[in-house]
Amino acid sequence: MTATVNLAVIYYSATGTIAELAAEISAAAEKVGAEVRLRKVAELAPQSAVEQHPAWAANVRATAEVAAADPADVEWADAVIFGTPTRFGNVSAQLKQFIDTLGPLYARGLLADKVYSGFTATGTRHGGHESTLLALYNSVHHFGGVLVAPGYTDAAKFADGNPYGTSHTDGNGSLPVDDTARASARVQAERVVRFARLVKATAPAA
Ligand SMILES: Cc1cc2nc3c(=O)[nH]c(=O)nc-3n(C[C@H](O)[C@H](O)[C@H](O)COP(=O)(O)O)c2cc1C
Repeated sequence: MTATVNLAVIYYSATGTIAELAAEISAAAEKVGAEVRLRKVAELAPQSAVEQHPAWAANVRATAEVAAADPADVEWADAVIFGTPTRFGNVSAQLKQFIDTLGPLYARGLLADKVYSGFTATGTRHGGHESTLLALYNSVHHFGGVLVAPGYTDAAKFADGNPYGTSHTDGNGSLPVDDTARASARVQAERVVRFARLVKATAPAA
């Protein structure tokens, strides 16, 4: 039961909160033996909008080395963890646009039987942690994916209080990613890798 798990961590982040959580999840998954591709999806906003927002521009610079997500990363993966900031209680357009490019893989049945999970961040405490993750998970059901949510399976989950996935309230930039969110991110990463290993072990030989 020690098969290598390929994990794609695919995210959108404007001002860096989701990028930090994505890095935490990637590192935790590597620690438990996964091969990880950390990938950011394409920006849709005009360059002028990015440049007018110092934190947005800083995040673009800080993540310049992160490779761009490609549908091939999803095809390669045994497990995919998607990250998106909350946008009006929903998934960001940038991540959704990437998900929509998965149509050809979907049509060939290649999104099914993988493990999926998600994480998010909001500006405010009740600003959409759960609605965003549930909206994201709609697509997982269409994929025929195996949704692995963290639930309250670890003490860290009682601290962050979100059984649907890792999430952080950033106070619209005033509250950096904290130990509570980082601990939750690690729990989620380890759980996804564990279940992806199990699912992979049951797959018919190719
Ligand atoms: C257009 C827009 C819509 C947003 N909608 C919400 C929202 O519905 N609820 C909320 O609490 N925060 C909302 N936010 C705040 C972001 O979700 C939050 O700051 C998030 O942590 C940013 O993640 P990032 O730093 O990775 O970009 C919104 C921000 C923008 C720019």
